Amino acid sequence: MNIKEIRKDFPILRKKKIIYLDNAATSLTPNLVIDKMIEYYKEYRSNIGRGIYELSQLATTEYEKAKATIQNFIRAKSSSEIITTKNATEGINIIANGLKWKKEDNIISTVLEHHSNYLPWIRIRNKYKVGLEIIYPDYNGKFNINDFEDKINENTKIVSITHLSNVIGNLVPIDKIVKIAHDYGAMVLIDGAQSVPHLGINVNKIDCDFLVFSGHKMCGPTGIGILYIKKELQEKIEPLNIGGGSIKRVEKDNFEFLLNSNKFEAGTPPIAQLIGLGEAIKYLQSIGLENIANHDISLIHKVYDCLSQIKDIEIYGGNLKNRIGIISFNIKGVIPHDLALSLDISSNICIRSGFLCAEPLIKNIFKAPNGVIRLSTYLYNNEREIDVFLENILKIAG
Ligand SMILES: Cc1ncc(COP(=O)(O)O)c(C=O)c1O
Repeated sequence: MNIKEIRKDFPILRKKKIIYLDNAATSLTPNLVIDKMIEYYKEYRSNIGRGIYELSQLATTEYEKAKATIQNFIRAKSSSEIITTKNATEGINIIANGLKWKKEDNIISTVLEHHSNYLPWIRIRNKYKVGLEIIYPDYNGKFNINDFEDKINENTKIVSITHLSNVIGNLVPIDKIVKIAHDYGAMVLIDGAQSVPHLGINVNKIDCDFLVFSGHKMCGPTGIGILYIKKELQEKIEPLNIGGGSIKRVEKDNFEFLLNSNKFEAGTPPIAQLIGLGEAIKYLQSIGLENIANHDISLIHKVYDCLSQIKDIEIYGGNLKNRIGIISFNIKGVIPHDLALSLDISSNICIRSGFLCAEPLIKNIFKAPNGVIRLSTYLYNNEREIDVFLENILKIAG
C-alpha cells in the first residue's frame, strides 16, 4: 500500500494541515467519490425509478449499478436485499420498530454497543413490555460465549450485536453468536458500522438476518447507510415510512407493498449519496480491504507499544489480539476533553474524547467517569502522524 499516493486522493489532506485520527467517527472523502457525485448533479440529475425519459433512465442505471456493487461487496444474494437508509442508526431503528412484538418476546443485546444499537432496544422494551437481556463483556471487552447460551431461549426474537466495538476495536465472534441464536429460532442483527469499513463482510457466510453500516465511515458521503434484510424476512418487517415508490398497487382505501427493497425506501432515496458510496467501495476494493486492515493494525500496534510503557496511562481493551484500527485510553489525572483540545491546539490533531456514544460500556466496565481518549486510523494515516501524536502524549505523560 502506497500511503503517500493514497494521501493525494484526499483533497482535505492537501488543503488543511490536520492529523486526522478520528476515523471511527467518520472518514475523509477521496476525490473520486466527490467527482462521481458531481457527475450525477451535472450530467444526469433526475429522479430514479420513475421517469421513462433518458435522463431518468441514466440516473436509475447508475443507482442500480451502485446497489449491485454493494450487493457484491457484502455478498448478498440479491440487490433487493440492499436497502438505503440515512445511516446505520436508521437501519437499526427500522428493524426494531418494524418487527411485530408480543409481550413474551425477548431481545438480547450487550453493554459493548454504540448507543445506536442500545437505545432502540431499550425503547422497544419500554413500549411493548418485552424482555431485554443485556450481556456484559469482561474488563477487556471480551464476551464469555456461555453468557449468550444462558440468556437465550425460545422466546428470544432477536440478538442485536456489534461486529467491532467503536471504543476498543475488538472483533466480536459473531459467527458463534449467529449459530446460537439460530439454534433457538432467533434472528440476528449485526451492527457493522465499524467492521465493514475495515474488513468488509460476507452476509452469506455469516448468515446474519440483518446488517447495518454507514457510508460516511468508509470514504463515502454522509447521508447514506445500508440496511441488509434477508429476502425471506422482508415480509415480516413493517417499513418505517410509507409513500411513493414503495407500493405495488394503490386503491382508494387500500394498497399493496412492493416485495423488494423499495418497500423500505418510500420517497426519493439518497441518490447521489448511494452512487458516491458505490464509488467509495470500488476505491477501497482497489486498494484491498485486507491491506487496509493490516495497515490499521500496524499503526495501532505502534501506538500500543509506546503507550503501554507509560505508568500513568491506562489502555482499555486488553492486548491487541483481534483488534483493528481503534485504541482508547486515559492518562491519570487528565480530563479527556482537555487532552483532545490541547492536541488540536498544539498540533492540529483530530481525535475523539468523552463517552463515544457508549456510556454503558465506559461507565460500567471501564469506570471512566469523564470518558476516554480514542484514536482511530484509516488507510491514509501514516507513521509520521502517529509519531507526532505520541510525541505530544509523551510530553504530557512521559
Ligand atoms: C458501532 C457503531 N454503531 C453504530 C454507529 C452509528 O452510526 P451512524 O452515526 O452513522 O448512524 C456508530 C457510529 O459511530 C458505531 O460506531
